[in-house]
Amino acid sequence: MSLNGKVALVTGAGRGIGREVALALAERGVTSALVARSGHELSETARLVEGRGGKTLALVADLADPAALATTVDRAVSALGPIGILVNNAATVEPLGPSAGMDPTTWASSLGINVIAPASLAFALLPAMVQAGWGRIVNVSSIVVAHPAAMIGGNAYATTKAALEAHTANLAAELAGTGVTANTYRPGSVDTAMQELVRTKGSGRVSEETHARFVHNHEKKTLITPQRSALSLVARLTSDASGQIWDASDPL
Ligand SMILES: NC(=O)c1ccc[n+]([C@@H]2O[C@H](COP(=O)([O-])OP(=O)(O)OC[C@H]3O[C@@H](n4cnc5c(N)ncnc54)[C@H](OP(=O)(O)O)[C@@H]3O)[C@@H](O)[C@H]2O)c1
Repeated sequence: MSLNGKVALVTGAGRGIGREVALALAERGVTSALVARSGHELSETARLVEGRGGKTLALVADLADPAALATTVDRAVSALGPIGILVNNAATVEPLGPSAGMDPTTWASSLGINVIAPASLAFALLPAMVQAGWGRIVNVSSIVVAHPAAMIGGNAYATTKAALEAHTANLAAELAGTGVTANTYRPGSVDTAMQELVRTKGSGRVSEETHARFVHNHEKKTLITPQRSALSLVARLTSDASGQIWDASDPL
């Protein structure tokens, strides 16, 4: 099947994997609503997409804010029509640090961005997807769910990504037979600002071993490019598979 003419909403589209997802979608004829907080980064993504002949709508919003979520959906649908593809890519790796003494409010704030926002966007967009008999929801997670002990000092991140994967699997089962799929995507270790944040600001906050691994992966150039990860995600959108955990390293 072709994605040509479909409309997508891509969160975290200002840089990193999300920007490259928007570019890969544009090359397949998909128009995307791009969401992030940083307007200048969204503008740059929009410029790159439009440079390749694609169309976008940049929507500045903080996904931690429930009111902003509702406005974002309304603006995207009003401008672009029903949305068939939702790529919940935005996330925060913060707060990093030891759990002893962690402020629970700070810890819980990551749930808003990493779990509540993706679920809320799906809830809002699902009625139209189900009515159309076609939809794709991809929730970007992390290999940390398979190896939670590999990111000591990232308790909020590991917890929220595990919750996101459970939400996705349950949603996929609920949607069976509707034509709407829900899948998890683990993007690999990707050379982005999120990796840089752990390398440059993680020392003393994540465990020494965790920090050393992030530094080592960068020095040894084992990180993959955002483009490579995004292409692996977008290539899977034509599949009818649902309830799967896709990994960037899996063969297509
Ligand atoms: N890079 C890796 O190695 C790696 C590994 C495993 C999983 N992942 C996952 O891959 C996804 C993309 O990560 P990335 O590495 O590309 O990160 P990134 O370069 O830091 O990009 C994150 C994007 O999310 C947006 N975002 C963050 N908080 C937001 C908020 N509250 N409201 C709206 N937008 C927000 C950011 O824009 P603003 O800051 O302007 O809002 C940015 O556009 C994430 O789900 C991450 O957990 C990445």
